[in-house]
Amino acid sequence: MEVASTIADFRNSLKGDIAFVPTMGNLHDGHLELVRIAKRNASCVAASIFVNRLQFGEGEDFERYPRTFEQDCEKLEAEGVDVLFAPIEAELYPVPQEVTVNLPKIAAELCGASRPGHFNGMATVVLKLFNIARPAYAVFGRKDYQQLHLVKQMVSQFNLSVAILEGETVREEDGLAMSSRNRYLSEIERREAPRLYHRLQEIAQAITMGSRDFSVLEKQATADLESRGWQVDYVEIRHADTLETPHETDARLIVLGAARLGKTRLIDNICLEG
Ligand code: PAF
Repeated sequence: MEVASTIADFRNSLKGDIAFVPTMGNLHDGHLELVRIAKRNASCVAASIFVNRLQFGEGEDFERYPRTFEQDCEKLEAEGVDVLFAPIEAELYPVPQEVTVNLPKIAAELCGASRPGHFNGMATVVLKLFNIARPAYAVFGRKDYQQLHLVKQMVSQFNLSVAILEGETVREEDGLAMSSRNRYLSEIERREAPRLYHRLQEIAQAITMGSRDFSVLEKQATADLESRGWQVDYVEIRHADTLETPHETDARLIVLGAARLGKTRLIDNICLEG
């Protein structure tokens, strides 16, 4: 695996059909699943590791975000990644990034409501990375469903020539979605953490059994989590394609949740294919 830290070196190492996996590092099996999808789709697999300051708000975890570069390199190499791009901030943002991507209004809802500017910073770096790597494919995980949705909107509305591939959420045995932030959890919090997924599962089951009382289901799950000490940002049932509030008759639904356990913010979702 070649490791490039400059844009020029990265571009020189790319050959043929490229599938690209952008990450912020601290890689787990969820990321490696994205790499495996990339490998199945293109002859050259490129990954990036860059903790993007632009998508962290004030008081968020930019400074303490886990940086585990050497272990990450070993994992990517073992999966057969051809090129790793690990840019330095000064080359990616040589001047203050004043040109940014303006996203649809759904970016201010769900995670965007508690993380103002987050998706704008995410989309801006993703667009820069796409322009640098010029990949035929790019792979994103479904755990960050709103991010995936917005990236797809950006690609389609800006006519970008990259096909977005999607990776399923990879879970620990007890159901907790893999996330770099799980390592912030204390032992007690780690035992409690799968509850978010389990509450979303209960909502999904209730809907499958015919319940259409969306707001009651959302409130019950929120109350349960809050009674266990979670600070809930949202538990919401939305339309899976638009992320808009659904009509009672909609079948393609997604149940999404974001909540804090101590200092750690966890997100998860379950998609109900209609
Ligand atoms: O999902 C992530 O890790 C980040 O948001 C991404 C897509 C790498 C952009 O910084």
